[in-house]
Amino acid sequence: MIEVANRIAEVKEYYFSKKLDEIREMNARGCDVINLGIGSPDLPPAKQVTDKLVQSASQPHTHAYQSYRSIPELRSAISDFYSRHYDVQLNSATEVLPLLGSKEGVMYISMAFLNPGDTVLIPNPGYPAYRTAADMMGAKAVYVDLKEENSWFPDLENLDPEVLTSAKMMWVNYPNMPTGQKASAEMFVKLAAFAQKHNILVVNDNPYSFILNDQPMSLLSASGAMENCLELNSMSKAFNMAGWRVGMVCGREEYVNAILRVKSNVDSGMFKPVQEAAVEALNLPDSWFDEVNLEYAQRRKLAERILDILGCTYDAKQSGMFVWAKIPVGQKSEDFIEEVLQERFVFITPGTIFGSNGEGYVRISLCANKEMFNTAIERLEMVKA
Ligand SMILES: Cc1ncc(COP(=O)(O)O)c(C=O)c1O
Repeated sequence: MIEVANRIAEVKEYYFSKKLDEIREMNARGCDVINLGIGSPDLPPAKQVTDKLVQSASQPHTHAYQSYRSIPELRSAISDFYSRHYDVQLNSATEVLPLLGSKEGVMYISMAFLNPGDTVLIPNPGYPAYRTAADMMGAKAVYVDLKEENSWFPDLENLDPEVLTSAKMMWVNYPNMPTGQKASAEMFVKLAAFAQKHNILVVNDNPYSFILNDQPMSLLSASGAMENCLELNSMSKAFNMAGWRVGMVCGREEYVNAILRVKSNVDSGMFKPVQEAAVEALNLPDSWFDEVNLEYAQRRKLAERILDILGCTYDAKQSGMFVWAKIPVGQKSEDFIEEVLQERFVFITPGTIFGSNGEGYVRISLCANKEMFNTAIERLEMVKA
């Protein structure tokens, strides 16, 4: 038996990977679990996008390895998209790098900038991949509290000065997952100034800005942000293309080049038909987002009904494809979701998988159809009767 490398000794299997196995077992026993846990869009991409994929894949010349930087048309479509939707001007040749999903970007950015022992600031609660990537680099993860009373925004003025001196990188994610909190323009200005003042690379992970959000924003729109900030973005959520693996990192040329140095030694480019179809998606009119959001708004109402039945409270103005809610006082998130799973066969996510500040909260995903939500409501209402 060969021992695994130290870098993964502390890394645990992803929560959902284990939980989904458990749900599969329950289903094999006939439980028919309704999964309101995971944020994988169930709706299809736009027809012109899938048509483009098929048409491109049927061409003989589209199957070779592709450039590590991707085709120029995709980089241009990304910079046009940033200009049109976020009012951010990017040089498509130097300041845009398509990725095989933004999760890949979390790892590549960490590999490009973190030495063993470097301090990286990570939001609590937050997307678990930031911590895992830090652990794999041998970096020191320091959690930054996000609290409801501070609108789930880090208290930048009161961070430990010693930590600020040693920190090299900081992850932020607005609109925030799991809390659904949107950033304001002032928040982004503060973050850009913070990055400059403390010489910290601040990376905003921005996959949710088009879901249930009237004002999509990019951290890169804040004055001075191009200096020390990067932004990850994704086509997984806004375009229903999660399985396609298309994301991007945008920002200063030197930083993008550093990430490219890692990436070009790990993957060998993105399938050309996927790139061409992604261009099609990025050029979709605003009505695409209106359509998707109409469905999510209806589902959100049903999710809120579930939370009402469960005695949870929530902010009705959240962004993104989840509803984050506070469970009744005195209960533990994991016990709470376990009871709902075992007794009613409905799976929702415990807030604790996003960090200790997620204790007392749960997250419901909107990636299930209305029929499933209605069945979940029926099951939960039966409990109350
Ligand atoms: C906050 C956050 N960042 C990144 C990702 C990964 O997205 P992608 O599919 O682009 O890798 C997710 C996916 O759930 C997420 O919630």
